[in-house]
Amino acid sequence: MQPDREPGRVLLVGAGPGPADLLTLRALRAIEGAGALLYDALVDETVVALAPAGCVRIQTGKRAGAASMPQETINRLMLRLARRGLTVVRLKGGDPSVFGRSGEEAEHLRAHGVPVEVVPGVTAACAAAAQFGFPLTHRGESRRLIFATARTADCEVTGDGWPSAADPGATLALYMGRDSLGAVARRLIAEGRAPTTPAAAVENAGAAHARLWTGTLATLPARLAEAAPEGPVMIVIGDVAAQADAQSGHVAADQAFRAAQSRG
Ligand SMILES: C[S@@+](CC[C@H](N)C(=O)[O-])C[C@H]1O[C@@H](n2cnc3c(N)ncnc32)[C@H](O)[C@@H]1O
Repeated sequence: MQPDREPGRVLLVGAGPGPADLLTLRALRAIEGAGALLYDALVDETVVALAPAGCVRIQTGKRAGAASMPQETINRLMLRLARRGLTVVRLKGGDPSVFGRSGEEAEHLRAHGVPVEVVPGVTAACAAAAQFGFPLTHRGESRRLIFATARTADCEVTGDGWPSAADPGATLALYMGRDSLGAVARRLIAEGRAPTTPAAAVENAGAAHARLWTGTLATLPARLAEAAPEGPVMIVIGDVAAQADAQSGHVAADQAFRAAQSRG
């Protein structure tokens, strides 16, 4: 770092599930003030477009199975840009603290003396529930909400935590579960969760083109496999999913679409 240069900082910012109108005001201000923007694959281009003209923009994640930037490279980049005195916005889909590696990144930056701030965002589970008209908790029905992923580095379904997810009073919000839903459902049923438990899958939650599939723990895996969605999919398992309503999704999607259109 040059001695006469003000040290920069890094903001780990939640971009929400996609559409720009689901950003928080704080996130919007952070993006508008960015000197450098590092953004993940799930961040919508309309959100990236909010950065100022002179801002350095770097995509760190690639869609459709292409290789993403290694985490060590992202860490090094953030550090280098902040040491140039820039306000670095590290933009992540949803909320940075939910399966977003914000802990690792903040730890790395703080260890190197770079100030870090986290700006929360709307996580995919909340966007999916809001759009399709169901709650994630419900009095007398679901008293526990579990944000979980079945995914490990080697794409295996892990052995931990299944008994608590099998509790009939729990809603399980499953991230990165699109391709492992069959294995997850079998595991939950083996742990005692009823095969008739309602389940819903939402692709591209928050967006005008979001899609909903409903069923039960026993039926949803095959339904989803048949549909083979290519976008990000949020899966919600629990009695609350019985309230999921495709009609309410269309209303919300239309409003989001109109808002985006009127902003040009
Ligand atoms: C690495 S995790 C990141 C989660 C993100 N930090 C959040 O809070 O939503 C990626 C997974 O989140 C879920 N996800 C993210 N955005 C989504 C969206 N718009 N619709 C449905 N699921 C989404 C999918 O399960 C996807 O595989």
